[in-house]
Amino acid sequence: MPTVIPPATTDATPAVPTPLVVARGVVMRYGAGALTTGVLQGLNFTAHAGEFVVVVGRSGSGKSTLLNLLGGMDQPLAGEIRVGLARLTEMSEEQRARFRRRTVGFVFQSFNLLPTLSVAENLALPLALNGRASALRITEMLARLGLSDRAARYPDQLSGGEQQRVAIGRALIHAPPLVLADEPTGNLDEDTARQVLVLLCEMVRETGSTLIMATHSHEPRALADRVLRLQHGQLRTEQ
Ligand SMILES: Nc1ncnc2c1ncn2[C@@H]1O[C@H](COP(=O)(O)OP(=O)(O)OP(=O)(O)O)[C@@H](O)[C@H]1O
Ligand SMILES: [Mg+2]
Repeated sequence: MPTVIPPATTDATPAVPTPLVVARGVVMRYGAGALTTGVLQGLNFTAHAGEFVVVVGRSGSGKSTLLNLLGGMDQPLAGEIRVGLARLTEMSEEQRARFRRRTVGFVFQSFNLLPTLSVAENLALPLALNGRASALRITEMLARLGLSDRAARYPDQLSGGEQQRVAIGRALIHAPPLVLADEPTGNLDEDTARQVLVLLCEMVRETGSTLIMATHSHEPRALADRVLRLQHGQLRTEQ
């Protein structure tokens, strides 16, 4: 009998965390000539799978610009951005649209729900766009958001907190690896902001997504794995 050598055991836990988002030497400017606004100036950034990173910085420092680039909504003037295997800076507009649909969930300050669609229809959209329509998933999500009795309502029939809960559900329903939140509690009162923040953090942990949040609020900083400050076009670890 030949000796059977068992295959080497593979350790599923990598020794170093896997980077999901890598940005190198990113330069972004708006306008031309004397009116040029230099926003990002050779910015470097890495976020690992499952990490929660908060980005702070004064108004106009470029936080939204950075999130738009990481989400493939815009292209930098120079530098490299990679999310998983997707090299965003080498992709066409159409490829980036497909990337956004599959890989990214966005949560905005102003909720950005589609006003002519009901709550359930807003939640259904990312699934339908990815060819994964599922009534069960929508029912489960409504329950998770505490909005089962609001399924048939339209966004203008909801409070701000409820609208943002729907927006969080819509961002996460297809379990995207990357969630980008731009001042997600900026339009909410203090108590509602806290509830929405906790819900977002819990749900992101459940899906194992990486969360990158731009905010002026203090509360998210305590929950984050890392806080970075955007200043003079670069990111630095906040002390
Ligand atoms: N589409 C655009 N065209 C021209 N300038 C722009 C554009 N978008 C942003 N800017 C400029 O780029 C700079 C960075 O803007 P950005 O919105 O990224 O800042 P921010 O850090 O998100 O600010 P806030 O905290 O107020 O949201 C600002 O000076 C802004 O005026
Ligand atoms: Mg902004």
